[in-house]
Parts: sequence; structure tokens; C-alpha cells
Amino acid sequence: MRRHAFVLGTVLLAASLPAGATEYRPDQAPGTPATVEAGAKVFADTCSKCHGTGGEGTAQWAPRLHDQKFLSAASNAFLEATVGKGRPGSNMMAWDKEATHTDIGLTTEQVDQVVAFLRSWQTAPGVALDESPLKGDLAKGEQVYTTDCQQCHGPRGSGVAEAKATIGIGHKAYLTAATDGYLRAVWGRCIDTRKMEKLAPLPEVSDYPLNYSAADRDSVLTWLRKNAW
Ligand code: HEC
Ligand code: HEC
Repeated sequence: MRRHAFVLGTVLLAASLPAGATEYRPDQAPGTPATVEAGAKVFADTCSKCHGTGGEGTAQWAPRLHDQKFLSAASNAFLEATVGKGRPGSNMMAWDKEATHTDIGLTTEQVDQVVAFLRSWQTAPGVALDESPLKGDLAKGEQVYTTDCQQCHGPRGSGVAEAKATIGIGHKAYLTAATDGYLRAVWGRCIDTRKMEKLAPLPEVSDYPLNYSAADRDSVLTWLRKNAW
């Protein structure tokens, strides 16, 4: 039922907007057509070999970036931090060579361009984030994580390094850039990567982790934060 109400709400909202317009949150400002175009070139040259030419991801290698749950929750600052500083402990390197003082990578301007390009994939309205303090129970969080999450994300949450999930959700780099509100919102983006190669275009993601209460969800996030490495 809840799902139908959500779909209907989206349709009504879309109908009241000019064709192609997306309702962005203030911290999701889209780029200009010129920045998006420049970002498309950066993406094709630098990112597509791992993330797929249309951001569809590669099974057991790199996550999908065109996912609407992800884009509608992520702020530009989160995307810039992720692309610029990377995710140490994974195959996602720090791309901002000016900030990291290295020879390989992109200029800060190119990082901004590619973030504008990712933003151009967003069609779902930006979601309001619930940034209220986590009210989780550590023991419950560990129990849920061990039973339901570690089979894909790995015992330490390192993603492909340990298991099948393409995102390591236990890294300090990830959990520092991701706010509690963001984590609450992207909960449920998980998919079975073994099926990914056959999915083109990708259908709705599985509702699998959505079956938890808000309290259980907070408990897992509390546990992840406590064990960040
Ligand atoms: C060598 C493969 C590789 C390349 C090249 C690469 N990435 Fe990644 N990227 C990854 C992996 C692996 C992850 C997941 C890391 C983790 O475990 O958190 C990731 C994560 C991300 C995320 C975070 C997704 C999320 O949902 O949290 C973004 C955004 C991203 N990459 C953008 C880019 C952009 C933009 C480029 C090009 C400048 C790029 N990546 C190049 C492998 C790659
Ligand atoms: C069937 C395997 C599977 C299971 C089980 C699973 N995940 Fe995931 N999860 C994934 C994959 C794969 C991704 C990356 C999806 C993509 O490429 O869009 C992901 C992404 C995520 C993200 C990152 C979202 C983002 O964009 O930053 C979070 C948080 C997450 N999962 C939490 C959990 C939690 C908590 C559980 C247990 C309740 C769980 N997952 C169970 C496969 C799984």
C-alpha cells in the first residue's frame, strides 16, 4: 500500500512540473549544460570502465551510480567528497589530484564537472533527510547485521574485498561523508549483484532491507558507526 501511495505521489508531482524538470534539494544544485557536457566526457574517459557507460555499475566490481534512491538522497558535497577523496580500502581512488597533491587524477574543476554529470541522471525528487540522532541498540544492530547484511557486505563491511556487495559500508571514509539522514534514506538500495549483468535496463531495486522497523534500521547504523574502520 505504502509503495503505491509513493508511486502515485511521484506521478502527481511530475505532472505538475515542466517536462524533464527534476525537483532538486537546495544542496543538489544541478550544473549548467556546459558543465554537464564536460562532465560527460570526464565520465566516459575515466569512470565508465568501472561504473558502466550509463552508470549501471559492474557486478562484483563497482556500484550503480544512476540509481534514483542514491541520487535523490546524496548531496553534491557527498558526491564531491566521494569522488575527490575516494574510498580508501576500496578500488575507488581519490580522483582530485590538486587536493591530494598527486600526478594522476582530475583537476578540482573536472571533479565538479563529473559531479554535475552524475546529478544530471537524477529524475526522482530530492528526498528530505531525517537527521535526528540515531536511537539504536548496539546488540540488536550486530544481530541484524550478522544475520542479514554480512552475507553481501562482509563481516567488516568492506564490500567486494570480503563479499559480493559493491559498496563497503564499514569504511570510515564512507561513514564520515554519509550523514545519518543519508544512510536512513539509501537503506534499501541493495541488490543481488549476481543478477546485475542480466538487468538492462535495471528494474526497481529489491525491497529486501525495507522490511525492518525504523528502530532496527537505527540499530544497524549505530553498530556500523561503532565499528567503522
Ligand atoms: C577502478 C574502478 C573505479 C573507477 C575507475 C571509478 N570508480 Fe567510483 N567506485 C568504485 C568502487 C569499487 C566503489 C565502491 C567503493 C566502496 O566500497 O565504497 C566506487 C564508488 C563510487 C561512488 C560512491 C557510490 C555510492 O553509492 O556511495 C561514486 C559517486 C563514484 N564511485 C564515482 C566515480 C567517478 C565520478 C569516477 C570517475 C572520476 C569513478 N567513480 C571511477 C570503483 C571505481
Ligand atoms: C543481496 C546482497 C545484499 C544484502 C543482503 C544487503 N546488501 Fe546492502 N548493498 C548491496 C549492493 C550490491 C549494494 C550496492 C548497490 C548498487 O550498486 O547500487 C548495496 C548498498 C548498500 C548501501 C549503500 C548505499 C549508498 O549508496 O551509500 C547501504 C547503506 C547498504 N547496502 C546497507 C545494507 C544493510 C544495512 C543490509 C542488511 C540489513 C544490507 N545492505 C544487505 C547488496 C546487499
